Amino acid sequence: MRDIGVGLLGLGVVGSEVAHVLLDRAERLSEQVGASVALRRVLVRDPNKPRPHPFPQELLTTNPDDIFDDPSTDIVIELVGGEQPALDFMRRAISANKHVVTANKEVIAKNGYRLLSLAAQHSVDLRYEASVCSGIPVLSPLQQDLAANEISTIRAIVNGTTNFILTKMAKEDLPYEDALRLAQELGYAEPDPANDVEGIDALYKLAILASLGFHTPVRPSDVYREGITSLDPKDFTYAHELGYAVKLLAIARQRGDALEARVHPALTPLDNQLATVDGVFNAVQIEGDLVGTLVFYGRGAGGGPTSSTVVADVLTVARHIAMGGIIRPRMELNRRIPVMPMADIMTRYYFRLSVADQPGVLAQIGRVLGEHEVSISAVIQKELDPEAQTAQVVILTHPSREHSVQSAVAELEALPLINRVSALIRVEH
Ligand code: NAP
Ligand code: HSE
Repeated sequence: MRDIGVGLLGLGVVGSEVAHVLLDRAERLSEQVGASVALRRVLVRDPNKPRPHPFPQELLTTNPDDIFDDPSTDIVIELVGGEQPALDFMRRAISANKHVVTANKEVIAKNGYRLLSLAAQHSVDLRYEASVCSGIPVLSPLQQDLAANEISTIRAIVNGTTNFILTKMAKEDLPYEDALRLAQELGYAEPDPANDVEGIDALYKLAILASLGFHTPVRPSDVYREGITSLDPKDFTYAHELGYAVKLLAIARQRGDALEARVHPALTPLDNQLATVDGVFNAVQIEGDLVGTLVFYGRGAGGGPTSSTVVADVLTVARHIAMGGIIRPRMELNRRIPVMPMADIMTRYYFRLSVADQPGVLAQIGRVLGEHEVSISAVIQKELDPEAQTAQVVILTHPSREHSVQSAVAELEALPLINRVSALIRVEH
């Protein structure tokens, strides 16, 4: 049996599980591959840190050269995270003719195309299935099983932490800060949760999904982004009354000759499967012209689910090596579809305005929206605060242009009878 050597960079939440699976199931995995798959060295910062699984101390190193310069290491798994030094580590591994498996969405979203070209030059593979929705296989189906389709829409919940927070806000009426604290206590959100709650993690994942789904380069900077930090539990209640759940959606959609690419909270119809995705679960809904609508659902975070995908990528590479196959990794980005400016997006909107409870307020709101060609589809006046003499007005619009809606909001906020526009959430149909 040929020996296939694996070097691992990082032994954190995901790395520990990956190492555990590779060591614990070595015999079975090797039988599956038809070659022995052996974990050789593991790079960490602190070799004395306690690890969740018993680990052979002699495999640990703090010197990356021990992995890159080892001729018996064929595959390098990058699980360090962040852009640097992870990107340099991957470049070094590829340049040393080693195959790379990673779960790093930031590096792939920003540098995937260039890294894949480098990998092709060196005839090595670069696999990154776990970078989007960790345990859910979605990139591979998008590239292979759905290849005959023209994809029209990708609509997804790709961040488990924010979906957990939104679920708590919706189901238990928790304010955002309390739901975030709970997510941190349970170990879902990082001590610095900005990447998740500001939608940055989701933006990287959407950039990867959209690039592969539409065969065009979609850079992170092309994607519009809004996080969940200013959402109010009130809007979850009102949205529910109107037949919607509030979700942080990542949306990519072909619109004529352009592409929409955006991440923001969205009212999602209760009869859409995405509205039923709760807690830390993820789901990706893909619409193809031949296949119709598909939904990929499962755990999008955590060491176990991510190790499932990372090890599967390692086994795919190992099988190719064992069979002596020629590897030509590619990202087929052979189209150039521009991403639409956000101002040109057409969608429906949900507004909540805090207004003076006086005659003529609704007429003023109607006039401003009308002048900006924003057509109202429903209006509800909610609770009155008798002391302040203010009321909440909730408005749902017909499809309207983002630019017109934003201009109308600025004008509404300047009206004396309107205290403020307390919420503006897009509606996804
Ligand atoms: P993590 O828990 O922070 O682990 C990072 C590991 O990398 C640690 O073992 C750390 O060493 C090591 N490391 C960091 N910087 C290093 C450096 N400069 N030199 C050597 N070692 C270094 O991260 P994680 O949660 O496992 O995430 C790893 C990757 O998987 C990230 O790209 C992440 O986005 C992705 N991912 C994570 C999840 C998830 O649920 N966690 C899901 C999907 C994808 P020490 O242990 O010695 O500090
Ligand atoms: N922080 C991510 C999430 C997991 O909450 O979904 C890693 O992709």
